[in-house]
Amino acid sequence: MNDVASQRADQVARSSLATTLHRHTTARAAERGAPRLAVLMTEIAFAAKVVARETRQAALTGQLETIGSANASGDAQKALDVMANRIFLDCLDASGLVAAVVSEELKEAELQQCDSEAEYLVCLDPIDGSGNLKAGTSMGSIFGVYHRTRSGSCTDVEQELLNEASLVAGGYALYGAATAFVYTLGERVDGFVLDQGIGEFLLVHPDIRCPESGGGYSINTGRSHLWEPGVLDFVRHLDELSPETGRPYTLRYSGAFMADLHRILLEGGIYCYPADRDHPEGKLRLLYEAAPLGFLVETAGGRASSGRAPINEVPRRSLHQTTPLALGSVKDVVSYEQYLVGASG
Ligand code: F6P
Repeated sequence: MNDVASQRADQVARSSLATTLHRHTTARAAERGAPRLAVLMTEIAFAAKVVARETRQAALTGQLETIGSANASGDAQKALDVMANRIFLDCLDASGLVAAVVSEELKEAELQQCDSEAEYLVCLDPIDGSGNLKAGTSMGSIFGVYHRTRSGSCTDVEQELLNEASLVAGGYALYGAATAFVYTLGERVDGFVLDQGIGEFLLVHPDIRCPESGGGYSINTGRSHLWEPGVLDFVRHLDELSPETGRPYTLRYSGAFMADLHRILLEGGIYCYPADRDHPEGKLRLLYEAAPLGFLVETAGGRASSGRAPINEVPRRSLHQTTPLALGSVKDVVSYEQYLVGASG
């Protein structure tokens, strides 16, 4: 074999030995004694692959237009939002493991295998940051898997989710320069990238650890006139010149939560969407944005907070409730919390 042919043969051999998402979730879920979680992850990842394909075509197929309806938060829905929602619902249903789904695109929970022994409730944002689509920048999907404490018919999904079910898995798919899939079952966080040629997510970021502190921050500074003093002081602090403490930090804000979070998870820093005068309870949804990604960031050694309490201690009050949110590197999130407490006395 010549050099080129042998390099190609090595490359092919390496990809057949690569850790696929399916191999990975099968092993991790078995270790946890919950093998069916692997089936669920495979279905969620399959949905993400289909949505990734649709987002690439969306401008060509007219899916970027609004269709005159609104989602649970009152945002105008695009055809792609509705399609992505349907894709996720169909895949979750096909797993046979999901009793009901809460989605940003649905006002009420959708019942699935509700009369069976289905163990899980899934909360999701099928397309986060769809406002970025026309500009051709990143967006993604976010999911949280909650384990039911009851078995059999789900008579009151809201009651189960708000008072009983525990978060056992969380993650996201990022539709950017590459399609990424990052998930946790609670012990570790692993990141995959879609190899388009073989249609598989392959492990590229094993055991992600969020750096203790970082040099970047993501917050919509265009809303600073609406912030409380502690948030303003914190951002001024990040902007100050102090080379010995690594400041100023670099501002990066994409308008898609998980695109910003993905960078912070890998490189360190902090994402914040604080309470402001227009959003006194913050903007991000607890059950399908803040809680699952907070769980993921904390599993990776980072911290997730409302600014005044750990995100996993924020009481669940309704399916689409919002919360102020700061998450990322431990030192940066602790510093943010101190600024908020300091300013409020
Ligand atoms: O899900 C809410 C969301 O779209 C996030 O993805 C994003 O970070 C944020 O809202 C953007 O909101 P704003 O335009 O107010 O900064």
